[in-house]
Amino acid sequence: MAEFEKFNFKNKEELLQKIEELNLKQSVFWSDDLKILQTALVNDRLTIPNRMAVHPMEGLDGREDGAPGDLTKARYLNFARGGAGLIWWEATSIVPEGKSNKNQLYLNPENKDKFARLVAEVNETAEKVNGYRPLNFLQLNHSGRYSAPVNKKMPLFLFNDPYSDEKAGISEDNQPVKDDYLEKLKDKYITAARLAEEAGFDGVDIKACHRYLLSELLAAYTREGKFGGSYANRTELLRSIVTELKSLLPDFLIAIRLNVYDAIPYPYGWGVDRENQEIPDLTEPDLTEPVKLVQALAEENVEIFSITAADPRIHPHIVRPFNNPIKGGAQPPEHPLEGAARMFTLTAEIKKEIPDKIVLGAGYSWLNQFFPNVAAGNLENKRADLVGVGRMAFAYPDFARDILSGEQLRKEQGCIACSKCSELMIAGGPTGCVVRKQKPYRELYQKKVKGKVE
Ligand SMILES: Cc1cc2nc3c(=O)[nH]c(=O)nc-3n(C[C@H](O)[C@H](O)[C@H](O)COP(=O)(O)O)c2cc1C
Repeated sequence: MAEFEKFNFKNKEELLQKIEELNLKQSVFWSDDLKILQTALVNDRLTIPNRMAVHPMEGLDGREDGAPGDLTKARYLNFARGGAGLIWWEATSIVPEGKSNKNQLYLNPENKDKFARLVAEVNETAEKVNGYRPLNFLQLNHSGRYSAPVNKKMPLFLFNDPYSDEKAGISEDNQPVKDDYLEKLKDKYITAARLAEEAGFDGVDIKACHRYLLSELLAAYTREGKFGGSYANRTELLRSIVTELKSLLPDFLIAIRLNVYDAIPYPYGWGVDRENQEIPDLTEPDLTEPVKLVQALAEENVEIFSITAADPRIHPHIVRPFNNPIKGGAQPPEHPLEGAARMFTLTAEIKKEIPDKIVLGAGYSWLNQFFPNVAAGNLENKRADLVGVGRMAFAYPDFARDILSGEQLRKEQGCIACSKCSELMIAGGPTGCVVRKQKPYRELYQKKVKGKVE
């Protein structure tokens, strides 16, 4: 691992030199030609107007009934105007007790029409501004051990995990959820997917990442009973949700945002090398099980795989390389470019195994104005089919429109990976870009994170 450094490249040459110096030429590619980002992705089930996506970014700005609020609406209309071909709507709870925050979105029969109105408005706005509409996927989630439906930790966890129990507020008094609770969740996912289809979404993501419930379940090696232990048991719930969706909603698209590497050691982490644990608390990837799972899900009509990794609370530098840690957070033990390179490599490894499926990559925002060139390099080398940005979309929602019109991204508008959006999230939200979209996020940051009103 190379020493940590902040993003400080003045030009392309400096970045290319750093790629060479860190020996990352096999994992960070570059292209001067951005045309590939502008091309549509078409297959017999869908059309994505270009290769750029907005990743799911929880705003924690919903109404208390779970419907989108005013800030939610403003964010999605900004994304719509921004021109990305795919908008992957943020983590939306499938049950009230699985919300991560009282203002997290939660789709239910009573508020479905409010979601429907916003989806329609997003599509109309995009059509009007750009002449096309994006594909809209809704991320369905149960927060599991990170549930906090009334802004108080109420963990619904699957097994004890020394790496995150404390962060999740799990003490000796808490018991893991029972198998019958998990059995009932399948129907909750199906109901939420039906509602999402009725609300006008093109598809749903059965979220299995970042150590929320379905992601934790994949690593339930130490859990007893029908959902723990073997690969078959640990993957059963996710596979059965997908199989049922395929038969009940055959025209509705299914995607999975999947952790392929949890980073914490076995027997607590999934997608990790069981032997190589040289660095305390951080192990190397082993994609044997994740590959087996994506191949099985690909057979079940999952159309898009969005590849991600880690528990952002434990290893934030793996999932979102940054320049500044959150307040009180540690400086990463590696160069952020190595973090980005890891994400690109994990994505490429999965793409290689499911060449006919659409694979979406992450980890680009740290590259700021150079992200389109690296994204194009990855796509040209068939290391992904789509690229998405999270924090960059908060900072610079027009990124795709500028790339489509052949303009260089403006560094002064881009993400500076300062972690302030994450700090706002930890403070309970609402969250957005504190630096570029100052209103209302700067004031919220001063009030909630700095603890002072301006
Ligand atoms: C404030 C914030 C909210 C996020 N919300 C979600 C979410 O709802 N679902 C999800 O899968 N990932 C979520 N993520 C992770 C992002 O989608 C993305 O994977 C990560 O930020 C890395 O991409 P980037 O480098 O382009 O920001 C969130 C990240 C941040 C910083």
